Amino acid sequence: MSERAAKLIFWIGTLSSLALFLGMTWDTHRSFAALTHADRLDANVIAGKRVFEKYNCNDCHTILGFGGYYAPDLTRAYKRLGEDAIRLRVASPETAFADSYRKMPQQHVKPEEIERLVDFLRWVGNIDNNDWPPQDSDTRWKAATRRLVGGAAMSPGAALVAQENCLSCHSLGEAGEHRGPRLEYISTRRDAQWIARYLVNPEAVTPGAQMPAFDKLSESQRQAIAEFISSLADRRTP
Ligand code: HEC
Ligand code: HEC
Repeated sequence: MSERAAKLIFWIGTLSSLALFLGMTWDTHRSFAALTHADRLDANVIAGKRVFEKYNCNDCHTILGFGGYYAPDLTRAYKRLGEDAIRLRVASPETAFADSYRKMPQQHVKPEEIERLVDFLRWVGNIDNNDWPPQDSDTRWKAATRRLVGGAAMSPGAALVAQENCLSCHSLGEAGEHRGPRLEYISTRRDAQWIARYLVNPEAVTPGAQMPAFDKLSESQRQAIAEFISSLADRRTP
């Protein structure tokens, strides 16, 4: 190769990569408002961000990759945990995480501050980050729905989850609400035995939990539900 050809390749390569990089940066900046739903960024969300800073939540937690790596990332915490579960975890971490070896401190966050944190985490949870990093990504939940439909949907536990309206508060795949934790997320942390015991009297297991007791169900029904939920676990995630 002549020196001239080598220089030509260098310049064409460098300049076209640069043009691509600048173009994509410009395109990203242009779509920020749409990707972040800037129109929903109201005073409550901003107040929530201030609370997040005031209590240094990001010393331990990350949002969109920024912060400390000690505790779970909170970018999708709203969709993974739901509102009531976030409230309980911030208000009483010592009971919510009683049986965990990792410790989240009790910071005596005021109730109205907790509401603003929920507003903030709801807004953050809706940022379209193009599924990156793919942790808690919608694709993963969709795969869970597919697995569910492909067999488990016929299980008695799945039928009971539908019959007892668990999805009026919990989400599963693309269905359900965000008051309590996502059923797939529960399955990554709890085994069937724990879930069956919890259903009898949630308050006794996690003081302050806003989850109704299902003590009218028979023990075998609770066991079936528990086995169904724990079967949702995606073993690749801790
Ligand atoms: C000293 C470190 C530390 C600080 C500061 C801290 N947390 Fe945590 N947090 C943790 C740990 C550790 C966990 C995980 C506990 C577990 O799963 O056992 C956690 C868990 C959580 C969870 C549940 C996450 C999940 O996916 O299960 C939420 C929500 C949360 N924290 C919110 C907050 C908010 C909001 C603040 C600020 C007001 C805050 N945390 C401050 C350490 C901290
Ligand atoms: C009225 C709303 C509501 C309904 C209906 C409901 N839940 Fe819950 N559930 C919650 C909330 C809120 C929490 C979070 C409690 C907390 O923060 O620890 C929860 C927590 C749980 C947990 C414990 C999660 C954990 O890891 O700590 C399990 C298991 C559970 N629900 C299963 C079910 C099942 C199964 C059904 C249906 C039979 C059901 N829930 C119906 C609101 C509800």
